Amino acid sequence: MKYEIKCIGVLTSGGDSPGMNAAIRSVTRAAIFNGIRVKAIYRGYKGLITGEITEFQTQNVSNIIQQGGTILKSARCAEFRTPEGRKMAFDNMEKHGIDALVVIGGDGTFTGARIFAQEFNVPIIGLPGTIDNDLYGTDSTIGYDTALNTIVEAVDKIRDTASSHERLFFIEVMGRDAGFLALNSGLASGAEAAIIPEKKTQLAQLEELVKNGFRKSKNSSIVLVAESELTGGANALAEHMRTEYPEYDVRVTILGHLQRGGSPTAYDRIIASRMGVAAIEALLEEQRSVMIGIVNDVIVNVPFTKAIKDDKPVNEKLLNVLHMLSI
Ligand code: F6P
Repeated sequence: MKYEIKCIGVLTSGGDSPGMNAAIRSVTRAAIFNGIRVKAIYRGYKGLITGEITEFQTQNVSNIIQQGGTILKSARCAEFRTPEGRKMAFDNMEKHGIDALVVIGGDGTFTGARIFAQEFNVPIIGLPGTIDNDLYGTDSTIGYDTALNTIVEAVDKIRDTASSHERLFFIEVMGRDAGFLALNSGLASGAEAAIIPEKKTQLAQLEELVKNGFRKSKNSSIVLVAESELTGGANALAEHMRTEYPEYDVRVTILGHLQRGGSPTAYDRIIASRMGVAAIEALLEEQRSVMIGIVNDVIVNVPFTKAIKDDKPVNEKLLNVLHMLSI
């Protein structure tokens, strides 16, 4: 007999990302379109444990497709990592008549979902919502494109002052140990280099560039740095430069959380809308514990284990492009 899904719960968890609201809207409307009720769960898994749950109608998600952040709020929940916490979450699902979940977030969100699904036999579908783009099985995560554009806008502004003062800037961007944002924003902003954790020899390459006098034909230099222990971060690199090459006038900008905010780009709204519909379709097709991805413009279902564990490779050829174009 088919497992009938009459009511789903939807939540956002982990770091928020632009486009999460578009995903909530899509999941809600696609579910209602298919005759499924929707319960909105606030503050991620925390709200599932404490019972912060209300029913959504189509109008609850009106006028949110263009809004950054998440109307459902987000949290990182330590209690959900305990069996007691997950039992309380399951009890609340039963109490509110929730048969299945759609969770929107990153690898932490899917790790929790995978364990919960296994323990209580709960159907769960994930949508990749993170600016980091570090989930295997999708070309882009919801929020990555917006963050990339936000970074490029900021770097363009820094370039103005960098040129006026003939300075070398290290600009640190987010990514949680993944170099997608640093590498691609470097390319899009015409940066001189990108230091990413996937390529451990980047520091050596940077030194090489400096030794060859990469400012000869230029009056400013910009290096994008991915936040990570492996890159050392922008401050450490700047310190190194100041000591080794005192002739450079070095400055640091850490872009921080401004990268997570703002209205989502058209691209993020579109993939969020497509993925939300695909999540409901996957549930109706009895898919379980998979993340919805888009690869080469085609919707794919990726098991949580693969999405979390397999390393998504950055295209290292792009470093060569950046290098070639920075002469
Ligand atoms: O995962 C998204 C992200 O923005 C990472 O890029 C960053 O390392 C982290 O979240 C920051 O987390 P918080 O908002 O908890 O400081």
